[in-house]
Amino acid sequence: MIALQSRGGFLGNSDYERNNFFVMMNFNFFRNRSLAIDLGNNNTLVRDKNSLLVSQPSYIVFDVDSNRVKAVGEKAYSMFEKNHDELKPVKPLKGGVIADYDSASRMIHEMVRQVNKERSFLGGYEYIISGIPFSTTEVERRALRDAMGQFNARHTYLMFEPLAAAMGMGLNIQEPNGKMIIDIGGGITEIVIISLSGIAAFQSIKVAGDSFDEAIQDHFRRSYNMAIGLKTAEQVKIQVGAVMRNLKEAPIPMMVRGKDLLEGIPVTRKVDHVEVAEILEKSINAIEHAVIQTLETCPPELAADIYMNGIHITGGNAYLRGLRERFEERIKLPVHIDDEALHSVSKGAAKALQDPKKYRSVLVE
Ligand SMILES: Nc1ncnc2c1ncn2[C@@H]1O[C@H](COP(=O)(O)OP(=O)(O)OP(=O)(O)O)[C@@H](O)[C@H]1O
Ligand SMILES: [Mg+2]
Repeated sequence: MIALQSRGGFLGNSDYERNNFFVMMNFNFFRNRSLAIDLGNNNTLVRDKNSLLVSQPSYIVFDVDSNRVKAVGEKAYSMFEKNHDELKPVKPLKGGVIADYDSASRMIHEMVRQVNKERSFLGGYEYIISGIPFSTTEVERRALRDAMGQFNARHTYLMFEPLAAAMGMGLNIQEPNGKMIIDIGGGITEIVIISLSGIAAFQSIKVAGDSFDEAIQDHFRRSYNMAIGLKTAEQVKIQVGAVMRNLKEAPIPMMVRGKDLLEGIPVTRKVDHVEVAEILEKSINAIEHAVIQTLETCPPELAADIYMNGIHITGGNAYLRGLRERFEERIKLPVHIDDEALHSVSKGAAKALQDPKKYRSVLVE
């Protein structure tokens, strides 16, 4: 473009120069694009610097014969547990990390393509910043990095999700002031103490949303000989899920539909929040235990900060009823529940996109 301008006119006269100009325009347009991606165990979110582009369940469905993608996101989730032999539904992440590389790559490709219809990825992007749990192995990080490679970005970085979540919640992660973040996602719960843009103490357990849903499913099978799908179990958790028996505002009990395991006929059963609180007791105990362990291993000066600042809980399961009250009672610290718990990681990664130089120290190559 500089060459064209230096010759006097903004556009040269020949077709060659005109075409060249548009090729370069296009190239720069691609290059100006940057994406922040939260490829989550249950939900995938994609943002550019300013807006949310994708927010979809992390599911993909293939046609068994052709291996072509039949559906992704919401549509794929609606087909889950309702498919037939010709369709193969896949949830590509487990425990917060990629479990099926090919499916994860194709899922994120398809989701981005749907919002970027007019472009191929050939021109590439400027920055891709993708969240990853802190407690991941190098192999797990490489799988995510490789999946992001398809976007041909000039710079591809990973960002630890608890740091991104803290930024997404508007916390200053760079100051020397300890902050405790608990991210209760779909596949993994991470508990970290952040100071000076780094992680000073952490615990991570694979007890999170999916295992809550499985515990509910299991309870119905063992207590009532009743089979329910995982989607129904998740609905129970969302509609009447609680972690305390005594709630200020109890939700209306829910009618659950399933199948009697002995007679094979459809049955219904009423469930209330007290029953769900009992089902989730063991899992919530495990999370509390991990929180206490993190505090125990944390340097005393940071522990003093957390005593003042309290703890910040994010991730979709932060919405479980009674979580704040229960943690305040057991851990004896003020608890803040993120009011945009499904968005904090992607919002934080998007913030890093806006000024990658400022946040370079939290971007992992
Ligand atoms: N209102 C709600 N009450 C309880 N749980 C909820 C609610 N809304 C969503 N969830 C749960 O939140 C989880 C998804 O949260 P989130 O999107 O933060 O996870 P993720 O980022 O996909 O997973 P991970 O961080 O483990 O990779 C699911 O387990 C879902 O059932
Ligand atoms: Mg998450």
